[in-house]
Amino acid sequence: MSRFARYPSLVDRTVLVTGGATGIGGTLVREFAEQGAKVGFIDIALAPGLALARELEGSRHAPLFVEADLTDIAALEQAIAAVRERFGPVTVLLNNAANDQRHKIEDTTPDYWDKAVAVNLKHQFFAARNVAVDMKQEGGGSIVNFGSISWKLKQGGMPAYTTSKAAVQGLTRSLARDFGPFNIRVNTLVPGWVMTEKQLRLWVTDEGRAEIARGQCLQQALMPRHIAHMALFLAADDSAMCTAQDFVVDGGWT
Ligand SMILES: NC(=O)c1ccc[n+]([C@@H]2O[C@H](COP(=O)([O-])OP(=O)(O)OC[C@H]3O[C@@H](n4cnc5c(N)ncnc54)[C@H](O)[C@@H]3O)[C@@H](O)[C@H]2O)c1
Repeated sequence: MSRFARYPSLVDRTVLVTGGATGIGGTLVREFAEQGAKVGFIDIALAPGLALARELEGSRHAPLFVEADLTDIAALEQAIAAVRERFGPVTVLLNNAANDQRHKIEDTTPDYWDKAVAVNLKHQFFAARNVAVDMKQEGGGSIVNFGSISWKLKQGGMPAYTTSKAAVQGLTRSLARDFGPFNIRVNTLVPGWVMTEKQLRLWVTDEGRAEIARGQCLQQALMPRHIAHMALFLAADDSAMCTAQDFVVDGGWT
């Protein structure tokens, strides 16, 4: 039996995960399905999305994968509608999708900037606005926006990403005010450097590991499950009076 918490309030709850096919999002889908939630997830990555849905078919509720590019807001809204149709009103939103692509300042075109903001920030607002309608109808809900410690660390090499991630924290605080009267909570989950397959493949060098060792207080690898465990708490009724906050899971780096 798992030594980690189970949340009765998550059983049969409809949870939407953006970018749920791989990385932290894939772990979110697994962990929420394991809690007995009805999980819908949206991703542009077709093969991994289908494979994950197949893997979890035997869950209390088989998760629903919807393929969509969420930089296209109409497609995002259609995908959310498909999840609602299958599972009923969405009362947990995990705004997880992003792309931490590196780019040189001198090569950055206005079009590149807009696309980077679209994948790292814009969809979070439109997904939140869309599911807030369900949450109002259901008497409340929880929205978790995914931030990043990168901009706090003054990380260079990807200003469109870091700027977007800084803005996520502002988005959280303003939506928390507007949605608060409807018992809709909005928080930012701020991961440190998480050892996903993609990070290990693309960015984690020996130098990076040394940087982690210097930065983190805890000398263990930060894994997707550590982020998912905080997301479970923020989605569950156990965090009922937490809103407009940043919840940092970074091994003590910042
Ligand atoms: N991994 C880390 O070290 C780290 C650190 C800080 C913050 N975060 C944040 O945590 C979240 C998850 O991170 P991750 O490392 O798992 O990210 P990732 O890049 O590995 O995965 C993101 C998912 O979003 C999907 N996606 C990308 N563009 C899309 C689009 N246009 N439409 C639909 N889906 C799309 C991808 O296919 C992927 O499944 C992100 O918000 C990220 O900014 C991650």
